[in-house]
Amino acid sequence: MSKTITFHDYQPQIESLKNAVIAGLSKTAKSIPPKYFYDERGSKLFSEICEQPEYYPPMIERTILSNNSDEIAYLTGTDRLVLEPGAGSATKIRLLLEPLQPSAYLPMDISCEYLRYSAAEIVDDFPWLPVHAVCVDFTHSIPLPEAAPDSHKLAFFPGSSIGNFTPHDARAFLDMVRKTINPGGMLLIGVDTKKPTGILNAAYNDAAGITAAFNLNLLHRIRDETEADCNPENFEHQAFYNQQLGRIEMHLISRCRQTLHLNGDEFLLDEGESIHTENSYKYSPEEFIALANKAGLHLVQHWLDEEALFAVYLLKS
Ligand code: TRP
Repeated sequence: MSKTITFHDYQPQIESLKNAVIAGLSKTAKSIPPKYFYDERGSKLFSEICEQPEYYPPMIERTILSNNSDEIAYLTGTDRLVLEPGAGSATKIRLLLEPLQPSAYLPMDISCEYLRYSAAEIVDDFPWLPVHAVCVDFTHSIPLPEAAPDSHKLAFFPGSSIGNFTPHDARAFLDMVRKTINPGGMLLIGVDTKKPTGILNAAYNDAAGITAAFNLNLLHRIRDETEADCNPENFEHQAFYNQQLGRIEMHLISRCRQTLHLNGDEFLLDEGESIHTENSYKYSPEEFIALANKAGLHLVQHWLDEEALFAVYLLKS
């Protein structure tokens, strides 16, 4: 069978870690954006998080997708152009490719090298499927290369990555998706649900300490890749569910009063002071459907596991 693969580099610009650290530590409530988690070690640790028994989303989402793949394909129809912003290792889409029979698959990711590798693995395993890999920061734009067929579109956004946006930014992102997939477009999206605090807190505080290592890896990067005199041992991982805001918050907490030096500036951290590194918003089905509606996307069908730990929504514009 003939294999088609094309690669499109939109040269995503990522601000230097150093500038991000200076900007983030200059704020009253200190924070560093989560995109800096994902160097090579960070990406490996993240795959390990996805194998921890406490971190339920990946396994449950896979089960939902594979148990319902025929119904999903029946509702979307075949021959769609399937695009996946932030495809990463592109493993979950594999559960759907046979039933969906897409006209082409467009994995998109900010990490060009990783994308080349996972796109090549897809064509190896699905030689009938044209693949057009797009290296881009999908939070800024979702470009469709000319090489892609002009068929109806299906966007795929699993892993509850939507929860890592604020609700305001999530709506803006869904708006951008709707504009990209129109006319006749659909979106299949996985979203973590609200649930008892104990389950949520355990998911981000796995007993093996992998999420802690992942969070602290940011400080290893700052130590190794900037001139900051940063000692990761002086910080600890903290993750907890903020019930009022409906989100998991991840922080790096200073174990002592300390001063970091970078670029001729001094950044004082009090004992117990936090550097906020990530949020993961949780949505009940009612809340998520309402958010999607505000972005002009309407529910076709949704699926939850028996315990309602995770949800997958099929939406259309
Ligand atoms: N989208 C995932 C989530 O919010 C990503 C994630 C899981 C994550 N565990 C994490 C991000 C730990 C940062 C740190 O659940």
